[in-house]
Amino acid sequence: MKGDVQSRIVHPGGFRGGVIRVPGDKSMSHRAVLLAGIAKGTSEIRGFLQAGDCLNTVRAMEALGARASLDAAGVLRVTGTGGKLLEPAGPLDVGNSGTGMRLLAGLCAGAGTKVTLTGDEGLRRRPMERIQKPLELMGAKIRLSEGGTAPMRVEGGGLRGIEYCLPVASAQVKTCCLLAGLFAEGETAVVEPVPTRDHTERLLQMGGADIEVQGRKIRVKGHGAEGPKFTARPLDIPGDFSSAAYWLAAGAAIPGTTTRVEGVGLNPRRTAFLGVLERMGAKVTVEEGPAAGGVEPTGNVTVEGARLRGTEVGGEEIPNLIDELPLVAVLGAVARGRTVIRDAEEMRSAESDRVATIVENLERMGVMARGRRDGLTVEGPGGVRPAGAVRSFGDHRVAMALAVLSIFADCPVCIMGVSCVEKSYPGFWEQLKKTGVNVE
Ligand code: S3P
Repeated sequence: MKGDVQSRIVHPGGFRGGVIRVPGDKSMSHRAVLLAGIAKGTSEIRGFLQAGDCLNTVRAMEALGARASLDAAGVLRVTGTGGKLLEPAGPLDVGNSGTGMRLLAGLCAGAGTKVTLTGDEGLRRRPMERIQKPLELMGAKIRLSEGGTAPMRVEGGGLRGIEYCLPVASAQVKTCCLLAGLFAEGETAVVEPVPTRDHTERLLQMGGADIEVQGRKIRVKGHGAEGPKFTARPLDIPGDFSSAAYWLAAGAAIPGTTTRVEGVGLNPRRTAFLGVLERMGAKVTVEEGPAAGGVEPTGNVTVEGARLRGTEVGGEEIPNLIDELPLVAVLGAVARGRTVIRDAEEMRSAESDRVATIVENLERMGVMARGRRDGLTVEGPGGVRPAGAVRSFGDHRVAMALAVLSIFADCPVCIMGVSCVEKSYPGFWEQLKKTGVNVE
């Protein structure tokens, strides 16, 4: 992020694992606010992620007519509009949140709310044609900026249901279509090339929407311009698996350590990273607890560290560990042999071009890494010998993955541009210190 001069110095060693709890799931927090925002009555959301991205979605929903308040215990109460959304006075700025932008675009297009969606410099570089195409097929008018990016003008309403085969495996695009479909005439069906996270489907099912999942096809009944009649209901959001993954990764690579993350979401469309840790040689134990709010599997994960070996990730597991790919690369640097990430072109469309930003940082850390069109290759373990500072490129997951790699370096590492971490994991650096790592 331009102008982000915040940095942290992480000293090597010190990580001793232990019992860790992580903040609420980001994907679920966004979806919970959007659905509560169109429901009738007040929904109580526990475990809501109070981080930049999700708070921007709350503010956007307030501008669209919902009311929201957060109490001292962290419970978010959202009073929904009951269906119709207000036209906001000005553009809605969702900061760095791709999820916020793509989901709000679908909701507003469906509800017929004219809105301009914008975001920070990083978000204004990310591809938005992927939602323009299906929303226009449904009858909305979506005007993008040059290059197919935000700011984006959304003028919808009067949509008709379509059947749409997603050209990329993206839960954000799937959800955008399903939200718009709730307000369309007739049924909307989305067909995924590869299964992606299904939080939306689960929440819609719980909310009483007429939704059916048949293999890779998800169908939702449209309610026309008036929209669905959801009633407010309480929701418990579990810890975010993608936040837990940093600690599980660090612990997995240190023989003799036990790292346990409690109360974390275990939706199988999110946890493919656990299989990768096992393939690399770590011992992983999962204890499933009661499903959070009856919709999402939740539980505790324990990882016992080992000397890791390289692995290959690719194919259908990619969407289910999409946010953990920077960590796979980092573990590749400390594992014996080669680690390959393939079929992961989507890495290039994330908060940064993660192929480029990870390879550049690994090289700066003295690790042999090479980008591929659809991923990257890392050779380990040649040692982690940083020659100067590394940079987040405004990407929270790059910053946090670099923090994990720094534990294995042979001298302190300065990570530049770390304010982006607040977008998904407030308290990350404090938690890193609590695990025994020295952070300045
Ligand atoms: C998300 C989906 C994923 C993920 C992102 C959150 C979501 O993106 O990378 O962090 O909440 O739907 P894509 O759906 O674009 O792959």
